[in-house]
Amino acid sequence: MISRVAATIEPARRIVGRLHVPGDKSISHRYAILAALAHGRSTLSNYAPGADCQSTLACLARLGVEIEPGARAITVLGRGLRRLCSPQGPLDAGNSGTTMRLMAGVLAGQPFSATLVGDESLSRRPMRRVIAPLEQMGARIEAADGRPPLAVHGAALHGIAYRPEVPSAQVKSAVLLAGLHAEGTTTIMEPAATRDHTERALEEFGGHAARSGLSVSVSGDQRLHSQSLTIPGDFSSAAFWLVAGAAPGSRVTIDDVGLNPTRTALLGVLRRFGARVDVFAVENQAGEPRGTVTIEGNDTRPLDITPDQIPGLIDELPAIAALAACGADVTVRGAQELRVKESDRIATLVAGFRALGLDADERPDGYSIRGASSRPRGGVADAQGDHRMAMAFAVAALAAEGPSTIAGADSVGISYPGFFDTLAQLLMP
Ligand code: S3P
Repeated sequence: MISRVAATIEPARRIVGRLHVPGDKSISHRYAILAALAHGRSTLSNYAPGADCQSTLACLARLGVEIEPGARAITVLGRGLRRLCSPQGPLDAGNSGTTMRLMAGVLAGQPFSATLVGDESLSRRPMRRVIAPLEQMGARIEAADGRPPLAVHGAALHGIAYRPEVPSAQVKSAVLLAGLHAEGTTTIMEPAATRDHTERALEEFGGHAARSGLSVSVSGDQRLHSQSLTIPGDFSSAAFWLVAGAAPGSRVTIDDVGLNPTRTALLGVLRRFGARVDVFAVENQAGEPRGTVTIEGNDTRPLDITPDQIPGLIDELPAIAALAACGADVTVRGAQELRVKESDRIATLVAGFRALGLDADERPDGYSIRGASSRPRGGVADAQGDHRMAMAFAVAALAAEGPSTIAGADSVGISYPGFFDTLAQLLMP
């Protein structure tokens, strides 16, 4: 059921501050899963606090993995490949597409059957994209109309060479995780580069992913070893503060944020918009670059996001829409994948921005918001239970003439439980 918990946002002339964002969601899922498949006790510091990454831990716990929670770090006692336990009852991925798709890859190679279920939003999302390759590898997966629940019947898998139709890091990761359980080599050839956290994480846990251009291969004879790793701040959560900081007069610094180049295309977009962006103190830790980003708002130039830019910006497109509230036209094309995210993000975004007073239109594959000729007055924007919609509307509402209400504001708990507290600390009169 979509929540109706609301937040009120008062207009703010500028935001100024320095902050940390919670641990990266994508990296947290992968470290937890690889730690479960490794031998020994792993310690994961700064594990993402949102509900999505807790769903992954809950699924792993149901599969017999011992996990000790902690304030600063979680501990995962790995069981080794193909050594998970047949679960009592379904595995609940909640709202998390990453949990469902990556766990489908893990379950495909186990010697038992298990069912993955999700909430109302996840139950609408397409799963054929993982079912097809995992079945080619030898697993059997039942799903009505290609949507959850997924009944995964694990099997002895064999490697395949697979070319997915859509660029998707979740599909790539599901196939690579299944590939660790398969006989021979599994290769995935992506249509465009997507986030490469699985490939990097595999190396950290003592495994190997061979990369060449857009192809990645794993062999099934690997043994993974436990690790102590610290997860960087989530760039996709930082994106909302970077966009807020791009308003003329604002200035925001974010420390210890993940700067994996497959995730940071937003920085180029913000420079094109006219903001001053500085990146410093970059270091590589556990195969993932991280550092400090400062943004200072200056100009507000129009933005046209083209199809080739979409894979590198997929989770930042809601935040980018909020740039229109500063007085610029923003157009996005080639982003039809947004329609199958936690909500139909094209429909939800356009309805929400219109409710705030901006002139906005849907395209089949994107949106157009005419921020140069319309101003946000303030209003009631409905996040439709989608965390990134709630945060995009909140940031856009800062630039409105009057107060706004974000319906379904508690959905931020999926990736960023402290979002509204941090917002309150950044506001300047
Ligand atoms: C993710 C990949 C992306 C992204 C999602 C997280 C991941 O999804 O939108 O929020 O952690 O692999 P797709 O693989 O569907 O593009």
